[in-house]
Amino acid sequence: MKAILVKEPGGPEQLVLGEYAKPLPNSDELLVRVHATALNRADTLQRQGKYPPPKDASPLLGLEVAGIVEEAGSNCTRFKKGDNVFGLLPGGGYAEYAVIHESMALPMPAHLTMEEAAAIPEVFLTAYQALVWLARLQAGERVLLHAGASGVGTAGIQLARALQAEVLVTASEQKLEACLALGAHKAIDYKAGAFEDKVLAFTDGEGVDVIIDFIAGPYFDSNIECLRLDGRLVLLATLGGGKVEAFDLRKLLAKRLHVMGSTLRSRTRGYQAKLTEEMWTFARPHFESGRIKPVVDTVFDWQEVAAAHRYMEQNKNIGKIVLRVS
Ligand SMILES: NC(=O)c1ccc[n+]([C@@H]2O[C@H](COP(=O)([O-])OP(=O)(O)OC[C@H]3O[C@@H](n4cnc5c(N)ncnc54)[C@H](OP(=O)(O)O)[C@@H]3O)[C@@H](O)[C@H]2O)c1
Repeated sequence: MKAILVKEPGGPEQLVLGEYAKPLPNSDELLVRVHATALNRADTLQRQGKYPPPKDASPLLGLEVAGIVEEAGSNCTRFKKGDNVFGLLPGGGYAEYAVIHESMALPMPAHLTMEEAAAIPEVFLTAYQALVWLARLQAGERVLLHAGASGVGTAGIQLARALQAEVLVTASEQKLEACLALGAHKAIDYKAGAFEDKVLAFTDGEGVDVIIDFIAGPYFDSNIECLRLDGRLVLLATLGGGKVEAFDLRKLLAKRLHVMGSTLRSRTRGYQAKLTEEMWTFARPHFESGRIKPVVDTVFDWQEVAAAHRYMEQNKNIGKIVLRVS
């Protein structure tokens, strides 16, 4: 089959369309003819050799797909040949065919295109896990989402609104309007002064209950300033750096704070399948009513995968970058 291969660990120019062995589904898996996959930052790290795939996962890039079931393993009961499905993968999405454990596959809503469905799994599962399972966000609470216009951020804004929270985001200036249009109550240009001052001004000095952060090191002190009593900080990436030089831990005690970190890819399939089921049970009615939508910035043909990676690494996207697999 055709697949995107990494010639040598390195830049986007290392990505080439080539030949790779078609995967064989086991009895609990579906073989899917991939129509669309979507980019994640993890792909850019894996391409550089900095994020090896989990044991037993396909070495090919690609953490999510939408496509049509070509073959269903003998134990599969929910899907059959010809069904449109989408879902999260441990790897292998940048290919003509991918295998997905049946418990990880979701039925594609009729109103979505393949490109839209491929834009859902990774970011909505990550945002749901962070907001609901880790931070236990409650209706009426306030949440601050950093990188509000990122894939995870745009999913997080919509899920947090559906959970009836008040939503603040940070993003670069040209992305603020998009965050407000998705439902954020306040969008802060983090390059125009200290975001914590604006968070505290907007919340009458109270701060927020939950922060979902991808920047980490340089934001840590400011995040702690923004959290109110019993606040929860969830760290999902270290885009700004992984170190905090000097931090007074007594602040955590005084405000009774929880600081958590997580990666979705390292979770067991059982955990991911339960998360998939719960997120979709919650979000499906909202997708069907149009209250929540996949946010697709750009669809690239998969022959243009190098350009798509460059586009992500230049921080140009609002929402997801999708590859059409032809
Ligand atoms: N832990 C997990 O389970 C998990 C799961 C999925 C994703 N992630 C991570 O979450 C992050 C977001 O993923 P994504 O796919 O949604 O990303 P994305 O769509 O590529 O968006 C990332 C955005 O973050 C902002 N940004 C980048 N570097 C920054 C910096 N140093 N300081 C401030 N803002 C910065 C940029 O937006 P602006 O223009 O607004 O600056 C950029 O467009 C990635 O780091 C990804 O690896 C973690």
